[in-house]
Amino acid sequence: MERIQSAIAKARAARQRQEPPPGGAAPEVARGPAAGNSPWLALTEVRLDPDRLEASRIVTDRPGPDADAYDMIRTRLVHQLRERGWTRVAITSPGSRCGKTTTCLNLALSLARQSDLRVVVLELDLRRPSMAALLGLSPPGDLAAVLAGERQAHAQMLRYRTNLALAMNARPVPNAAELLASARAAAAVDEIEEMLRPDVMLFDTSPALVGDNALSFLDQVDCALLIAAAEESTVAEIDRAGELLAGHTQVLGVVLNKCRFLDRSEGYGED
Ligand SMILES: Nc1ncnc2c1ncn2[C@@H]1O[C@H](COP(=O)(O)OP(=O)(O)OP(=O)(O)O)[C@@H](O)[C@H]1O
Ligand SMILES: [Mg+2]
Repeated sequence: MERIQSAIAKARAARQRQEPPPGGAAPEVARGPAAGNSPWLALTEVRLDPDRLEASRIVTDRPGPDADAYDMIRTRLVHQLRERGWTRVAITSPGSRCGKTTTCLNLALSLARQSDLRVVVLELDLRRPSMAALLGLSPPGDLAAVLAGERQAHAQMLRYRTNLALAMNARPVPNAAELLASARAAAAVDEIEEMLRPDVMLFDTSPALVGDNALSFLDQVDCALLIAAAEESTVAEIDRAGELLAGHTQVLGVVLNKCRFLDRSEGYGED
C-alpha cells in the first residue's frame, strides 16, 4: 500500500515537473480556446447532433435545468482538483450499466462549457466501447492502438469546439487488462497530457467489481468518482468497490445516478 502511494506520488511529481514554472515560458497551448500553433488545432474537429445527444441522455451541451445536477458535480470536481493540484479522474462503478459513460460525457460537456478549461476524455472501458455510438461519431481508429504504441495520439483524438478532446474505440479489445496495466499505455497517456495540457482528464473505465480492467489503470490516476445506480447498486457493492479503489487511488466521491425520486428541495425554480 505504501509502495503504491509512493509510486503515485512520484508519478504525480514527474507530471507536475513538466508544467512550465509560474511566470516562466508561456505554455504551448494558450489557456482557453485553442489558439496560435496549438496542438489542439491539429485535432480533427467534430460536431455533435443535439438530437443524438438527447437520445443518449447527454444534456450538458448547453445550460439548463437538465444540466444543473452535472454542473454542480463539475464545480465541486474542479474545486477539488485545483485544491490538490490533480488532473486525472477515473469514472467507475461497482457493476455494469450504472451510467459511467453517460456521466463521463455529461461531465465532459459541462466542463467544456467553461471555455478557460481544457478537457480530455479517454475511453478506457476497452471491454465495451460505447462512447462513439452515444455521441453519434465514427472514431478514426482505436484508442487501444494508441495505448499499445501503434498509433499516434493526435491522429486518434477528436476535438469538440475549442477545448474538449476525446479519444474513443471502434471495437472491443480482448487483452484489455494487460494493455491498461502496461508501461506503454501509461507512457501514451503521459504523452497525451503533455501534448494537450488539460486541466481535467476524464477516464471512462470498466466496472470495479467486474474483472480487473478498471483496477489495472487506477495507479495512473489522481482520483476516482464512483457512479452507483439507485435501486440497482447495493450498499455492499458500493462498499466493496470503494475499498478496492482506495487500494489504488483517492475516491473523490460517490455519484448516485438514476434517481427517479428527488425531494422537491432538490429542484430549483420548478413548480
Ligand atoms: N441518470 C440516468 N437516468 C436514467 N437512465 C440512465 C441514467 N444514466 C444512464 N442511464 C442509462 O443507463 C444505461 C447505461 O448507461 P451507461 O452506458 O452510461 O452505463 P455504463 O456504466 O457506462 O455501462 P457499461 O458498464 O456497459 O459501460 C443506458 O441506457 C443509459 O441511457
Ligand atoms: Mg460504459
